Amino acid sequence: MVKPSQSLKWWQEGVIYQIYPLTYADGNQDGTGDLRGIIRRLDYLNDGDPDSATSLGIDAIWLSPINTSPMVDNGYDIADYKDICPTFGSLEDFDELLEKAHQRGIRIILDLVINHTSNQHPWFLESSASHENPKADWYLWQTPFAGQKLPNNWQSYFGGTGWKYCEARDQFYFHTFNENQPDLNWHNPDVRAAIYDIIRFWLDRGVDGFRLDASSVYSKDPYFRDNPLKYEATDRNNYNNYHHLYDKNLPETHRIIREIRAVLEEYDDRALIGETFIDNRLYDSVIFHGVDQDELHLAITFEFPFSPWYPGYLQREIEKNEITIQPSAWPCYFLDNHDIPRHLSRWIDCSLCVDSEAIAKAAATLLLTVRGTPLLYYGQELGMVDNTDIPEEKLQDRAVVQSETEETPDSRDGARTPMQWDGGSHAGFSFGQDIEPWLPVHANYPELNVQTALQNPDSILNFYRRLLRVRKQSEALRWGKWRTLVHYPHEHMVYLRETKTETVLVAINFSYEQPFKRDVTIDGESWTVLLSTHYEAGKLIDLADNLQAFEVSILQKSR
Ligand code: NOJ
Repeated sequence: MVKPSQSLKWWQEGVIYQIYPLTYADGNQDGTGDLRGIIRRLDYLNDGDPDSATSLGIDAIWLSPINTSPMVDNGYDIADYKDICPTFGSLEDFDELLEKAHQRGIRIILDLVINHTSNQHPWFLESSASHENPKADWYLWQTPFAGQKLPNNWQSYFGGTGWKYCEARDQFYFHTFNENQPDLNWHNPDVRAAIYDIIRFWLDRGVDGFRLDASSVYSKDPYFRDNPLKYEATDRNNYNNYHHLYDKNLPETHRIIREIRAVLEEYDDRALIGETFIDNRLYDSVIFHGVDQDELHLAITFEFPFSPWYPGYLQREIEKNEITIQPSAWPCYFLDNHDIPRHLSRWIDCSLCVDSEAIAKAAATLLLTVRGTPLLYYGQELGMVDNTDIPEEKLQDRAVVQSETEETPDSRDGARTPMQWDGGSHAGFSFGQDIEPWLPVHANYPELNVQTALQNPDSILNFYRRLLRVRKQSEALRWGKWRTLVHYPHEHMVYLRETKTETVLVAINFSYEQPFKRDVTIDGESWTVLLSTHYEAGKLIDLADNLQAFEVSILQKSR
C-alpha cells in the first residue's frame, strides 16, 4: 500500500488531547484552571524528547473555549471572540502558550463557538435593543403568528422551548442551547464576514486549527417551519422527539463550512475539526467531509463512544467508517469528552467488565490502533472516572442545571473535575496550594494521580505512554489499512494494520474467557510483541497460543 497522499498531515498522524481549561491546572492559584497552569504542564504533555520517561507524547492540544465569557456554559457562551477570558489569563499568556507548545512540537487547536454567542456579546446587546440597528438581523428574531404563543415548535437541546421573549423588541429569539446563548443568523452575510474575520485573527496569531462547536446547526429554515414530531412521540417538549428537518443539518450548513474551510486554506497546514452534533446517522459523518473534501478535515461523531462496550458493536462502528468514509477523507475517534460521562464510568456496569484497569487498557488500545485520528480527553490517560458525588451547591454546569425542565440532561460536571496531578492538596491542581478548586476533585486522587502513576510500570498512564510511542514508531498503526480477522466477534477483536512494509496485529480480549488465537486465519509467521498487557516487548509470540484473560497485545510481523 502506498502512503496515502505524499505525506500525511499532522492531524492525521498525530494524537489530539483535549483540555478543559477550567480544571486542568491552576497557574495563578485562584482555584480555577488557566493558561499559565497549562504552560507549566506542557512538559507532561510532550517535552519534545521521544524517549522521555515522564511525558505523554501527544501532538496537539484542543482547548475548550478560552475567550471572554460570562461562563453560563463555561466558555461555550462567548462575549468577545478576540480576547482571552480573564479567568484564563491574557492574550500575552496565550501567545506564550502557543510559542512554548510549538517549541515542543505541540499544535494548538481552539474551540470555535459560532453557532451562537453569549447574550452578553455586544452584537446581541445591540441586536436586542431595537428593530432598527445595524445588527437588528444578526440573530434569529421572530414574531409568533396571530393566536400563537411561540414562533414555532423548535426546542432547546438543553430542554424546553428554544424561544425566548425580548421585551425591547416585543419578539422572540431562538437558542439551540441555553437561553443565554442566542443563535446567530448565518443567512446574514455581515455575520459570516464578522466570523471569518475572527477566524483570520487567530490564524494570524499562529493557531493550528479549530474545533467547530455544534457545526451542524448553523443554518436554520428561513421560513421557520415546525419540525415534525417523531412517530408515536407524545412529549412535545423534548428535543429528541423531533425530526430536526428545519433547525439542524440543513444543506446551507455545508456551504458555511466550505466557506470556513476556504478561510483556513488561505494559510498553511491548518486543521478544521467539527462536532457534527447529529442524530447519529451514518450519512452525516460521511457528508461533513464534503463531496470534494472541502469541508471538515475531521468529523467528530458520537456513534463509537456511544456504542456498548462489546466487541461486536465497536467493530461494527469501525467497519461502518471503513466502508463509508471516502479514501480521500480521514476518520477520527474518541471515547471521552466534556459533554459525556467518562468511558470507565459509562462502561463499568457491563457484565463482563470485572476490572476497570483492564477496560482502560483495552479501550486505549482500540482508540489508538484503529485507522484514524484519536482524540484523548484530559485524565483519560490516568483512568479518571466521573465524580458523581458533587454536592448540588457546587455544580457548575449552569447552562444545563438552570434549564430546569424534566427533559434537561444531567449536569456534565462529573466528567469535568480537576486533573489529578499528585497526592497533595486537591490533587496538585493549584501546584501545592490548598485552594478549593472550581469543582471538587474526585476522592480517588490519592491513589490515582500522575505522580503515582508514573512510578508504577503497570499503570494505565504508562500503558498510554508506551502506546503513543508504539504508534508513533509504526507506520502501519498511523496510516496502514485496517482489516479485521474476526468476523463474528464475541469477546475479542483481532485486526491487522498493514502497509507495504509493515504488518501489525492487534488482539484485544474483552473477557476472562480465553479464545484461541488460532481461530485467526493467518499462517505461522513469527510475531514480535510491540506492546502487551501480558508479554514483554520484543518477545516472539506464537499465534496458536490462547489469548489470555483481558489480554491486549500489539504484535508486529517479523520480516
Ligand atoms: C457543544 C459543546 O461541546 C457543549 O459543551 C456546549 O454546551 C454546546 N455545544 C453549546 O455550545
